[in-house]
Amino acid sequence: MAENNLMEKIVSLCKRRGFVFPGSEIYGGLANTWDYGPLGVELKKNIQDAWWKFFVRDRMDMVGLDAAILMNPKVWESSGHVANFNDALVDCKKCKSRFRADHLIENATGTKVEGLSLKDLDKLIEENKIKCPVCGAHDFTPARVFNLLFQTHIGPVAKDSEAVYLRGELAQSMFTNFKLVLDSARKKLPFGIAQAGKAFRNEITPGNFIFRTIEFDLMEFEWFIRENEWEKWFEYWLEQMHKWLDIVGIDKKKTRVREHTKKELSHYSKRTADIEFETPFGWKELYGCAYRTDFDLKNHIEKTGKDLTYFDPDTNEKLVPHVIEPTFGLTRSVLMVLLSAYDEDKAPDSEGKEEARVVLRLHKNIAPFKAAILPLSNKLNEDAKKVWEKIAPHMTADFDTTGSIGKRYRRQDEIGTPYCVTFDFDSQKDDSVTIRDRDTMKQDRVKIPDLLDYLQKKLAE
Ligand code: GAP
Repeated sequence: MAENNLMEKIVSLCKRRGFVFPGSEIYGGLANTWDYGPLGVELKKNIQDAWWKFFVRDRMDMVGLDAAILMNPKVWESSGHVANFNDALVDCKKCKSRFRADHLIENATGTKVEGLSLKDLDKLIEENKIKCPVCGAHDFTPARVFNLLFQTHIGPVAKDSEAVYLRGELAQSMFTNFKLVLDSARKKLPFGIAQAGKAFRNEITPGNFIFRTIEFDLMEFEWFIRENEWEKWFEYWLEQMHKWLDIVGIDKKKTRVREHTKKELSHYSKRTADIEFETPFGWKELYGCAYRTDFDLKNHIEKTGKDLTYFDPDTNEKLVPHVIEPTFGLTRSVLMVLLSAYDEDKAPDSEGKEEARVVLRLHKNIAPFKAAILPLSNKLNEDAKKVWEKIAPHMTADFDTTGSIGKRYRRQDEIGTPYCVTFDFDSQKDDSVTIRDRDTMKQDRVKIPDLLDYLQKKLAE
């Protein structure tokens, strides 16, 4: 479908149907914060559960971790984030809007400039006579560096309190816990530690809905290896990341792999490749795969004096493992899943007339509701409820009694429910229901005792 207004349509659908709401809306909102509503929380959870199953539970060589968001602030000094986790920002002197200098230049010129020096960024803004996207003036302050770590304080009284950071990535706790995990889980190289949870970054964002927010959900793992095997594992994980796109229904035709230039590489990385997605606002990073070398473990060993080495009992060798890190924004995945699934087509209304419909063609794996039970009349609610009670312990199922059956089909299409189950007046006589497929709109009549089996088979197809 045409990309025109696609973002507006998705933002509006998300609010109307209860996927994502603007944060603190009744107080006028808080920029770049979003709340996940009844359907959004299911969708996000389903994506996270699918990730955990594919990358952790289905593997013998991966273990999980759920570490504290607040860590000793020295962790972030050792990791290099206090010194290097920065954005270059400029302010428009006329309207006071603030921008990331690299994004300002990239949007105006179409060239990637991440990693350039402040001087080079200023020069490019000047040479290209870049204008403020808000007021049109060409009058910016020189680029300055801002650290992205979010500071907060432990302790009730400001003057006695200790400054700490909300974690900017999950990775560091996988490194600080490396030895504890190794000793308790008794893993041999290669193996991984995975984690999913909140991360925070004090970012300036141009407001592309949930694409870039100051608080977001991240899923990532550190894959510990011998140095000489890093290239092989890098390719392996990039391949697995592509398999993952199919698991959640992210449209691969809209993705590409982009290698980071030397200047752009994070302070810890020797090679990074992003999986980018073609959004209505351009090609954007979806996920990343980085070769972090032994940078993190080595720094933590150096700063703490603790032994974070790996001992190989077969070779009697002691070594500091190297690391490949595949990283996946969960909230960003939600957006790309919605962009991949949103569709408009035509469907017959209750009189058989073709009418426009909006349909979220979500992968069945992650749809908030797998089925919706729809009694044709309120008189049938009690009997239809018994059908819902049979299905609900096995899959998320909606029970929808409001509006005409046509309207209910439209509502379920719009939230991506794969199967609508209509309980009609004949159902009481023939002990059967009609099942309508979201994508083909084909209808099947199925005996109620066979319904669960039918749905489970269809969902597994
Ligand atoms: N540990 C490595 C790391 O954090 P990153 O590329 O800075 O790498 C990882 O971030 C992923 O987190 C990105 O690929 C993206 O999906 C997501 N992400 C990064 N910043 C984000 C933000 N401000 N809002 C939402 N998602 C974000």
